[in-house]
Amino acid sequence: MISFANGRAVGYDDVGTGVPVLFLHGFPHNRSLWSPQLGALAVDARTIGMDLRGFGESELGDAGLAGSVDGYADDAAALLDALNVDKVVLAGLSMGGYAAFAFWRRHRHRVRALVLCDTRATADAEAARRARVEMQALAAEKGSIAVANQMIPGMVGKTTRLKNPELVDELHRMMSLAPADGVHAALDALMTRPDSTPTLATIDVPTLIIVGDEDVLTPVKDAQGMHLAIAGSRLEIIAGAGHVSNMERPAAFNHILSEFLVSLTAQ
Ligand code: MLT
Repeated sequence: MISFANGRAVGYDDVGTGVPVLFLHGFPHNRSLWSPQLGALAVDARTIGMDLRGFGESELGDAGLAGSVDGYADDAAALLDALNVDKVVLAGLSMGGYAAFAFWRRHRHRVRALVLCDTRATADAEAARRARVEMQALAAEKGSIAVANQMIPGMVGKTTRLKNPELVDELHRMMSLAPADGVHAALDALMTRPDSTPTLATIDVPTLIIVGDEDVLTPVKDAQGMHLAIAGSRLEIIAGAGHVSNMERPAAFNHILSEFLVSLTAQ
C-alpha cells in the first residue's frame, strides 16, 4: 500500500488487529525484511511495516537527499498520523534501531514499547565514516549490487550461510534492488547519526533487545551494553542467527516478540 508522509509516497503493509507494532528495516533493506513477522504476528497485533525513504516503494524526494535518522523518524510519525495510530510498539533492526532512537527523542509520547533488534546505540567512529563515504563511491560507480556483494557476508551468521543459502540469495536480491539514491542518502544518515548512548537512560517504556549470537555487525556485546543502560529492559540472544535474526530464526524471534507483546497487554 502507499500513503503520503510529508508529501512523499511511503510504501507500507498493515496487517492484523490488536496492539500496533511498527517495524523499521535496516540498511539497505526494505519492508519485506519483516515478512516473517507481518503474517505470523498479525493474529495478536496490528503489524505495520514501512519502507524508509528511498527504499522499496518510498520516495526519497528532494528533502531526503541528505538522509538523516531524524527524517526517517519523522516519516514514521507521519505514516502513523495517516493511519490514525496514536501509539505503537516500535521495532527497529540495525539502521531501523538507529531510527527508533531518533523517533524516541522526537516523538516519545507515541512509543508504547521498544524492540531493538541487532542494533547499537553508538555513533560511527571516524574509520566507519570513511568506509561509508567509500561505499557511496562504490554505489555510484558500480550500483547497489556492489554494495550487496560487499555487505552480504556480514548480513547473516555462519549457520545461515551454511544451512540456508536460499535466504542468503533472497537478502542479496533485496539489497541489490535498493535504489541508488536511497542508498546514498541512507549512508549519509548512518554516518551522521548521533550517539544514542545518552538516550538510553531516558527510555522508560518496556524494552526488548534481541540479537543473534552470530551477529558480527552489531554483536552481542553492543546489545548487552544497551541492556545494562536501559532500566528494566529484557535481552534475548538467539542462537544460530546473525545480523538479520528475524529472518534467520523467524520462529524463535516471533516467539520472543509474541511473549513480549502479551506481557504488554497484561500490564
Ligand atoms: C544495517 O543493517 O542497517 C547496517 O548494517 C547498519 C550499519 O551499517 O551500521
